[in-house]
Amino acid sequence: MIAKEILSKLTLMEKAALLSGKNEWESRDIPRLGIQSISFADGPHGVRRQEGAGDHLGLNASLPATCFPTAATVANSWDPSLGEEIGRALGEEAVAQKVDVLLGPGLNMKRSPLCGRNFEYFSEDPILAGKMAAAYVRGIQSKNIYACPKHFAVNSREYRRMAMNAVVDERTLREIYLTAFEIAVKEGGAKTIMSAYNEVNGEYANENKHLLVDILREEWGFDGLVVTDWGASNDHVEGVKCRSNVEMPNPGLDSARELIKAVEEGRITEEEIDLAVLPVIEAALYVKDNDHTKGFNKDEHHALARKAAVNSAVLLKNDNDILPLKPGTKVALRGPFVNKPRYQGSGSSQVNSTKVETIAEVIEEYDLEVLEDPRDADVVLFFFGLDEIAESEGGDRLSMDIPEYQVKELKNLAALNNNVVGVMSAGSAVKTPWLDDLKALLHGYLSGQAGATALLDIITGKRVPTGKLSESYPFSYTDCPIVNFAAQDKRNLQYREGPFIGYRYYDTVDVEVQFPFGFGLSYTTFEYSNLKVTDGGVSFTVTNTGKIDGAEIAQLYVGRKHSAVIRPRKELKGFSKVWLKAGESKEVSISFDDKTFRYFSTVSNKWEVEGGEYQIYVGGNVRDIALEGAVTKEGTITEVPYDIKSLARYRSGQIRNLHYDEFEKIYGKALPEEKVGPLDINDALCQMETAKSDLCRLVYKILKKKLDKSYEKGVPDLNIMFIYNMPFRAICKMSGGMVSRSMVESIVTIVNGHFFRGIGGVIVGFFRNMSANKKYEKELYRK
Ligand code: BGC
Repeated sequence: MIAKEILSKLTLMEKAALLSGKNEWESRDIPRLGIQSISFADGPHGVRRQEGAGDHLGLNASLPATCFPTAATVANSWDPSLGEEIGRALGEEAVAQKVDVLLGPGLNMKRSPLCGRNFEYFSEDPILAGKMAAAYVRGIQSKNIYACPKHFAVNSREYRRMAMNAVVDERTLREIYLTAFEIAVKEGGAKTIMSAYNEVNGEYANENKHLLVDILREEWGFDGLVVTDWGASNDHVEGVKCRSNVEMPNPGLDSARELIKAVEEGRITEEEIDLAVLPVIEAALYVKDNDHTKGFNKDEHHALARKAAVNSAVLLKNDNDILPLKPGTKVALRGPFVNKPRYQGSGSSQVNSTKVETIAEVIEEYDLEVLEDPRDADVVLFFFGLDEIAESEGGDRLSMDIPEYQVKELKNLAALNNNVVGVMSAGSAVKTPWLDDLKALLHGYLSGQAGATALLDIITGKRVPTGKLSESYPFSYTDCPIVNFAAQDKRNLQYREGPFIGYRYYDTVDVEVQFPFGFGLSYTTFEYSNLKVTDGGVSFTVTNTGKIDGAEIAQLYVGRKHSAVIRPRKELKGFSKVWLKAGESKEVSISFDDKTFRYFSTVSNKWEVEGGEYQIYVGGNVRDIALEGAVTKEGTITEVPYDIKSLARYRSGQIRNLHYDEFEKIYGKALPEEKVGPLDINDALCQMETAKSDLCRLVYKILKKKLDKSYEKGVPDLNIMFIYNMPFRAICKMSGGMVSRSMVESIVTIVNGHFFRGIGGVIVGFFRNMSANKKYEKELYRK
């Protein structure tokens, strides 16, 4: 039977039930019509498939899978073909583990270096993030399953991620926060999209008509599945009206009942429900015949993880060409990650690796002498970086520092030996005030289960470093564009910096950084020459001028000197990774595309091109432009209808002290006020700190104590982090039908100091909910 035929045979009760999850990882099935459950699993850099009872953040171990380097790492390869290869391997493992929808890749923009989930995201630049994400999607989906780019959209902070409103102007939304998703959908052909936890301009992402209907479905032509992030659904009826398809994970049948009631009350039509159900049936049919008996080749995938880590590591410093080490070099190994590597982040993306290499074990395979005393060594290799607690879903970092105990150890080593080479593991930008204590710094990011051999391959010259940074490294957090308005404690998080995110800010206003976007050294050198600019794109020559084979990542930036539209000085529009033998030259071409010259006009409400001359910049990073040219473009409109004279700070890019008024002008309407008054079901549990009820304040204190304890221990307690930041309403969305929305409303009544009224509601609600669930279940699975 085809999907539409099946749809015509479903009852309203069955349709409503199909639009929310059956348990932690599966959608509902309707056996009488052969609709099977769709199984979901994380994630972005390795499959996290729990067998038996699933729990959200993985207390129960998952099946062994290959842990590839995380997205932040692979983005440094600037190599979509590598992303696609990893995607294929992920897809293969997913099929082997009976997964139908793989929840990844993650492609939110790195607005702040402190976001706890940066390690899972590709870049601060939407073109780089989009191209990499599209490649993963193509790879994953080549195995006949669905990939699920996430979290749509503007989810760039973890703290109170489920109780936060991202306030962002339309142009910035389109150009910075949605473009990567657009590429993942249009060029990657993504079949699923995960809606984010947060609100975007006052509407929850999962019930945001502008995002889900106007842009995703109508403009981009997406006809696949929209799945909520786990617990992200607020008003299920509104979500379905916005063509969100599956509310996850397991709200029981409470959400289905809400839909039926809404049909009865005329708030939603059965046609609207049909529109949401059809993609669910299509997905179930699409994956139905996948062969789950094949397994996957662990060794081959381990080798791919190693190749990915090699091609993604970034050499940040190499004084006197201390690297690569010569055969027989006497080395001493130091640092916390020699025996216990940091190779992935914490949270829903955490993989139970098929094996994990350690430096201490694999060093034997290399032609180096292993010494105890650093004073006797030619070189000290210091393995260090961010601790596990620093990089986790559910929490943001408090600073860009690496831990103090590591800095002390480095200083002591530098006092004993002049030749300390740092090998860093961290999934996001850190401060490097200790850089002078190192002769060289190789940044492996979070390099996956084969990271140890990958890094030693580079250190010993078996392989050359070819990665470049996919994000900027400011000298300190106080240099960041958002520093003055990234307030931690507010619901309304204003994205006042507009388009001046990452290098778009540092480059425009000439702020010095430790390492610019696109930076990375090699063991060889490259020269650029012979730029030709045509209407269709650029071509130029890159020559390997050194004595070693290597690869250069050539980057194309576009700017416009006398722009009537506010814009950063340069923006990345294309790139190419070129492999060159020593002495070899190659001509490189990068085409212009629909995104090269466009800007989003909030006046015409569409993409436009400003007519006139554009500057073309080609080089090795955003601050190292080797070739410049120009091209003239015809505009799509004759006059730019903006009054930018009144937007002095935006015009100059000096947005760090941007006033509220100027943002309001760009935002185009009154900015939302902070809510005052009693807590409601959409407030976060951590807001119980101010609850009227003594009991609830006590609950808050217990939660906080547990959270602090987990920070002290250095190991994130993921469930506590999740609960601390989640809103009350998530209780009914994640309790498998034990708790209904009306019960949550009663719980909030208790929180607000009305104990007896609230407890009565909870008790009555409990019995009502149980009996309604029973009745529904019986009806649903009747023979
Ligand atoms: C995360 C998602 C993840 C989901 C399922 C959520 O908390 O934000 O990225 O896919 O859990 O584990």
